[in-house]
Amino acid sequence: MKTVITYGTFDLLHYGHVLLLKRARALGDRLIVGLSTDEFNEKEKGKHTYIPYEQRKELLCELKSVDLVIPETTWEQKAEDIVKYNADIFVMGDDWKGKFDFLSELGVEVVYLPRTPEISSSTIKAGMGDHN
Ligand code: CTP
Repeated sequence: MKTVITYGTFDLLHYGHVLLLKRARALGDRLIVGLSTDEFNEKEKGKHTYIPYEQRKELLCELKSVDLVIPETTWEQKAEDIVKYNADIFVMGDDWKGKFDFLSELGVEVVYLPRTPEISSSTIKAGMGDHN
């Protein structure tokens, strides 16, 4: 049983997100998503979320690729989650390349997947007239 874990905001769920999750899931047998809470986004990531946490969670839970959604409330929790959920593979999009290599010390394989070009929550928000 190979457990894959990934993190993100997944606001205004789009094709780039779905593809990332699908490829992450394909690396193992179950996929856990650490979903940034509204407060964590606001305070730590400087991002205002359009869709509240509970709704973003519900959308992710509907995806075939996603087995479990947990809240992401701190930057430091990744190491604890990896141990707690016995994760084998830690996945992020390659916009984070190199940033989480240190987690491999925990015995987890750190994988950066290429982002899907030309789509992001920010560009969707900008198109909606919100440059947050
Ligand atoms: N992602 C991706 N391809 C995209 C957009 C996002 O593979 N076109 C991945 C990111 O690399 C990350 C995950 O999806 O691993 C969640 O990304 P998130 O930051 O929530 O989404 P973005 O659309 O990048 O949001 P923003 O524009 O606010 O940064």
